[in-house]
Parts: sequence; structure tokens; C-alpha cells
Amino acid sequence: IRLIVRQEGGQQLELDAPTDMGLTVMEVLKAHELEVQAMCGGMAICATCHVEVLESPQLPEPGDDEVYMLESLPHATAASRLSCQLRVTPDLDGLVVRIMPEA
Ligand code: FES
Repeated sequence: IRLIVRQEGGQQLELDAPTDMGLTVMEVLKAHELEVQAMCGGMAICATCHVEVLESPQLPEPGDDEVYMLESLPHATAASRLSCQLRVTPDLDGLVVRIMPEA
């Protein structure tokens, strides 16, 4: 599937993401050397994988851990998600995100 990252200045980067490897969006971003620290390694406790969803196909609802974490981020928006909690599935094709800076 295609994941699109909108960067500062409006350029868009298209990433190919396989759906058969059980990857998360965070892991795909990291694999492309984008600025995602993901310090906790996907445990939903560090929020350094925070993205804002600009255009989305169907996304699963965030789990309790993710909601709790996002609520603690002062700069989170209604479209914020933790990219480590989004598993790459065919439903995510065409997802457009912006990588959020740390607070
Ligand atoms: Fe730490 Fe996502 S990698 S919350």
C-alpha cells in the first residue's frame, strides 16, 4: 500500500508499505529514515511516534493506551495518532500523515 508523508513546505513523500509483515506505520517511517524516534519501541508510552492524520481511509479506533497517551500531549489534535499503534493493513492505503514535532 501507499503511505504518504506530508513534510514541511508541503512536499509529499510516498512510501511503499507491505501489508504482509505485521509492521506498524511507525516501523515503516523509521525504515525510511524519517524523523521518528519511537523511543519506547511501540509500547504507546513515549509518544515520540506522534503523527497527525491529514487524510485517512478507514482507521481503526485508538485503544485505551493510545487515547490516554494522546490526551497527555499538549499539542495533540483531534487527528493525532500514535503511529506505533497503527498496523499496516490494506485499509490504510492512501493514508496521509504529518510527523509531529515533540512538544
Ligand atoms: Fe513510543 Fe509509539 S513508539 S508511543
